[in-house]
Amino acid sequence: MSEQTNDSEHDTAFDSDHFRTVLGHFPTGVTVVSGLAEDGTPHGFTIGSFTSVSLDPPLVGFLPQLDSATWQAMASSGSFCVNVLSNKQSDLCWKFAKSGNDDSRFDDVDWHAAPSGSPVLDRAVAWIDCTVESVYDMGDHHFVLGAVTALDADADHNGLPPEPLLFFKGTLGGFAAEG
Ligand SMILES: Cc1cc2nc3c(=O)[nH]c(=O)nc-3n(C[C@H](O)[C@H](O)[C@H](O)COP(=O)(O)O)c2cc1C
Repeated sequence: MSEQTNDSEHDTAFDSDHFRTVLGHFPTGVTVVSGLAEDGTPHGFTIGSFTSVSLDPPLVGFLPQLDSATWQAMASSGSFCVNVLSNKQSDLCWKFAKSGNDDSRFDDVDWHAAPSGSPVLDRAVAWIDCTVESVYDMGDHHFVLGAVTALDADADHNGLPPEPLLFFKGTLGGFAAEG
């Protein structure tokens, strides 16, 4: 049985570069998790660790680094919105992953407010608005558990079906149905 821990005394036969390389072989979708700071300014960061947790009650989660400036800025609002990026939004993936959490991440980005007030990025594949249910510390990350309060997947993609953005081995790509 594993237990929650923050220590770094795990004996492993591999280093963190190898861990990162192997885990990079697991493809993920790409989201921008957004929220508002106390002064009402929008914040957001690129997150691949988004996951659905529970249907009843509806819960989702994601894992920001313990020292994440973006999470610290938005945490006190008690809510966040997950934006699932489309394969036309690779520029937003890199823009919201750039270190240094200043307001410029939202420059030239079209967005509107979710019911919580958190930003919904225009033309994202889907958005999921949440209130923070719990925050657990796990190793060098938090696990933020959110109760879903509103969600939709009705963005305008110029009449075309939305296509998600995928991340694999450090690069971005698209989804190809195989059956
Ligand atoms: C595809 C992709 C997925 C990412 N997923 C995560 C993640 O799940 N958790 C995390 O803490 N950082 C993740 N990052 C890195 C953050 O986006 C990046 O460190 C960002 O600068 C964090 O903002 P902050 O420094 O203001 O906290 C990801 C980056 C990319 C490009």
